[in-house]
Amino acid sequence: MTHFLDIHKTPKDDLRRILDQALAMKNARTGRPKGAADDDRPLAGRMVALIFEKPSTRTRISFDMGIRQLGGQSMILSGTEMHLGHGETIADTARVMSRYVDAIMVRTFSESSLLELAHHSDVPVINGLTNRTHPCQIMADVMTFEEHRGPIKGKKVVWAGDGNNVCASFLHAAGQFGFDFVYTGPAQLDPEQVFIDGARAEGVNVRIERVAARAVEGADLVVADTWVSMHENRTACHNRHNLLKPYQVNARLMSRAKKGALFMHCLPAHRGEEATSEVMDGPHSVILDEAENRLHVQKAILRWCLGI
Ligand code: CP
Repeated sequence: MTHFLDIHKTPKDDLRRILDQALAMKNARTGRPKGAADDDRPLAGRMVALIFEKPSTRTRISFDMGIRQLGGQSMILSGTEMHLGHGETIADTARVMSRYVDAIMVRTFSESSLLELAHHSDVPVINGLTNRTHPCQIMADVMTFEEHRGPIKGKKVVWAGDGNNVCASFLHAAGQFGFDFVYTGPAQLDPEQVFIDGARAEGVNVRIERVAARAVEGADLVVADTWVSMHENRTACHNRHNLLKPYQVNARLMSRAKKGALFMHCLPAHRGEEATSEVMDGPHSVILDEAENRLHVQKAILRWCLGI
């Protein structure tokens, strides 16, 4: 069974093939209405279940649109309205769903729920975000970088702020695609050591730099994300704003990066917190390309999972 659970669990060659196919499919759609099906409809007659235990705008819409463009059908399911892990075991849900649908995308809280679902599923399972990782987002981000600046291998990527689940997938990607990674943020919010060690084991030059201005020197890409993730309580995390203020990505900080550096944010953003509108809407920003590329790269991931 070919699941897409995390970037570091997917063979390097397959990741590259997914990106190549995503770009080819994107180019083939140039000038088409967004709702039009692709010429090739490999998902015809297939159903994909999209399970959301957390809110989503981009993941929900991009998967749904992508499945339609590939000629398939999708059903969007709310985790709270299912018996997933409460009322029946995740294993039973996985076994039953495998009798109905051809693939499952799940956005859930704990990584163990994702892994348990995948373990007991007879159809491919795709990670649409857990509290620990967000691989579809980073595949779109690598695609976006390479569209704008060519191969990401050997480039310097700086993550500013909370070392969260999206940051973790960037560390996985650094190992698979071979770019340097600098984390700049307060020690309390460092990425989990296991992600840093994993990247280093793949030969990645991972650096932690507490001074943001120093971290972004010579950066090819600067990335920010929300200071409080979806699974965290904003009120309880109020102090975090003081910790993270020095790591806000603003025009002054971006000016320390390489000329022509890109700025990314997976969205949703709290403008004026982790990044200013000046940066988000400025010449370095590729935030809308990242969002669009979710669509194309997830179509390629689905095709890879289903072998179609
Ligand atoms: N970036 C991202 O996953 O967006 P959503 O939470 O809107 O799906």
